[in-house]
Amino acid sequence: MARDLSGKGSNTRLAHIGNDPRDFHGFVNPPVVHASTVLFPDAETMAGHKQKYTYGTRGTPTSDALGAAIDALEGSAGTIAVPSGLAAVVVPMLAFLSAGDHVLIVDSVYFPTRRFADTMLKRMGVEVEYYEPELGGKIASRMKDNTRVVFTESPGSNTFEMQDIPAIAEAAHAGDAIVMMDNTWATPLYFKPLDHGVDISIHAATKYPAGHSDVLSGTVSANAKCWQQLYDTYLTLGVCAGPDDVYQVLRGLRTMGVRLERHQESALEIAQWLERRDDVSRVLHPALPSHPGHEIWKRDFSGASGIFSIVLNGGGTKEAHAFLDALEIFGLGYSWGGYESLAVHVSLGDRIVAKAPDEGPVIRLQIGLEDVSDLKVDIEKALAAARA
Ligand SMILES: Cc1ncc(COP(=O)(O)O)c(C=O)c1O
Repeated sequence: MARDLSGKGSNTRLAHIGNDPRDFHGFVNPPVVHASTVLFPDAETMAGHKQKYTYGTRGTPTSDALGAAIDALEGSAGTIAVPSGLAAVVVPMLAFLSAGDHVLIVDSVYFPTRRFADTMLKRMGVEVEYYEPELGGKIASRMKDNTRVVFTESPGSNTFEMQDIPAIAEAAHAGDAIVMMDNTWATPLYFKPLDHGVDISIHAATKYPAGHSDVLSGTVSANAKCWQQLYDTYLTLGVCAGPDDVYQVLRGLRTMGVRLERHQESALEIAQWLERRDDVSRVLHPALPSHPGHEIWKRDFSGASGIFSIVLNGGGTKEAHAFLDALEIFGLGYSWGGYESLAVHVSLGDRIVAKAPDEGPVIRLQIGLEDVSDLKVDIEKALAAARA
């Protein structure tokens, strides 16, 4: 039985949500239950599934602890844990879309989400349409009689456009569609989708929740209206996360608040410093007043995480590669949310309606927990290499 933590601060809640040590002999952390089979005491209990746990795919004390923790953060009716962030995108789409339906997806979406929509959803007979991230309430004009899902991601992948989520939710609900949001960037600490009209909140728990670049995981949280349909699909597909990964995500949540504070502070300092430089044309970070979506970020979000992009002032692939190859502390790698800094030259060739910056190459920076002074020296060297 989890303790009542209502009214407590976010770090207090992160330290204690999910499980109550008194439920397991006082051990602070919950047991990692490795299970397929669960035994029943007699035939009647077995036939009626009359006990809390019945089979490994249907939940364990470990997955319940993570689910309860995420529900406490999201304000959701239920949460499923799946084996990756991409699975956390795919499972709700499969739960709510059928042949003949229309889905609206933001054009600045994480590329593998687009690939899923353009391949499997289309093959299933779903009509897929992309919309501009800044569309806001005007999305009403794109709604069709068969629009069942409006998919959002804010800020957008790589270019960090902000979406007016409450306005989108109002228009989507007026047309009887549900709203899904990939909220990985903000985590439920800095944006609470369900409080802003979203029905289903999606996280690549691989990033800040796990936080150490060693776990793949996803969570999907639903409001009361959508929970049963999401949960039924999860059981139908058998896409439960493994117990060790679930445990690691719960473990990561305990420190996520303090890690995020540091990611936020360092990223903002570096973003502001980069914005003052002539060799950087633009810094795409929603917490900067210069960002076109800054007012939405300020209105709806309570913080910013540690990933943003810069647009170099001129140049192309050669300059982008020179920048990356000069880095020593920043690793060249995909993903983000871990303790270490990463950089990648982003490819925006998939965009249909959202305009990609064209002044120079776009470099995405994930600011880790290293000392800012060291990171600045590294970036300084990379910018010099790009200039040369
Ligand atoms: C916004 C966003 N959503 C989902 C994912 C997918 O997460 P995973 O790598 O765990 O599949 C990513 C991964 O980079 C992401 O950036």
